[in-house]
Amino acid sequence: MKFTFYGHSCFAIEVAGKKLLFDPFITGNELAKDIDVNTIEADYILVSHGHSDHVGDLVSIAKRTGATVIGAYEVVAWAQKQGCEKGHGMNFGPFNFEFGELRYVVAHHSSGLPDGSYGGNPGGFVLKTAEGNFYFAGDTCLTLDMQLIPKYFAKLDFALLPIGGNFTMNVDDAVIASQFIECKKIVGVHFDTFGYIKIDHQQAKDKFKAAGAELILPEIGQTIEL
Ligand code: NI
Ligand code: MN
Repeated sequence: MKFTFYGHSCFAIEVAGKKLLFDPFITGNELAKDIDVNTIEADYILVSHGHSDHVGDLVSIAKRTGATVIGAYEVVAWAQKQGCEKGHGMNFGPFNFEFGELRYVVAHHSSGLPDGSYGGNPGGFVLKTAEGNFYFAGDTCLTLDMQLIPKYFAKLDFALLPIGGNFTMNVDDAVIASQFIECKKIVGVHFDTFGYIKIDHQQAKDKFKAAGAELILPEIGQTIEL
C-alpha cells in the first residue's frame, strides 16, 4: 500500500484504488509548511476524533474533493453541518466499505470539536483489505483493548501509533502496544509537532529495535510502500 505522510497524525493510504486520508491537519502545522494542502486528493477522509490537530483541514479538503468523511457519528454530523456533503458516521464496530472492512475501535482520550461541540467517543481504525491489514490507533494511551485486534479482528501488516507522549502513548508505551497488537512494523505519528511531544528519533528507533520491531519515522511529504 502506498503511504504518504503529511505531518503529525495526517497521512494518506491508497488501497483498492481509493485514496484514504487520515486526520487532516496541515495548515496549522508549522512543520508541514511545505505541503500544499490544495493538492491533496481524497476519496475518503477518516477522522479519529474531534481535536483541532486532527480536523484542522477536514472541512476545506472534504468540500474541495467531495470526499466522504468517516468517523464518530458526532464528528461526521459536525462536518456535515460545516458543509461537507458526504459522511458516514460510526461508533465502535465494523462496516464493509468498498475498500475493505473498517472497524472503529476504542481509544482512551477525549474528543471535543474546535467550536466546543461534543465529538462523541475518540477512536482508532482497523482496516482489513485484500491488499493487507493495518491499525491506526488515533490519539490514545496504552490500552489492554489493543490485544483484541490480533486475537479477533485482524492480523496486522503494519500499524500507525502515536509516540509523542503527554497527550498519547510515548515510545516505551508504543513498544508495548506493538506487542499487544502483534505487529513488528510500526509507523510513528503524533510526535515533534509541539513542545510537549518532541522526541529523540534515534533513541525511539533503538527502543523498537531492541524489542525486535521496526519503527519507521517518515519525513513530512515522503511517500513509501508499506
Ligand atoms: Ni487529541
Ligand atoms: Mn492529537
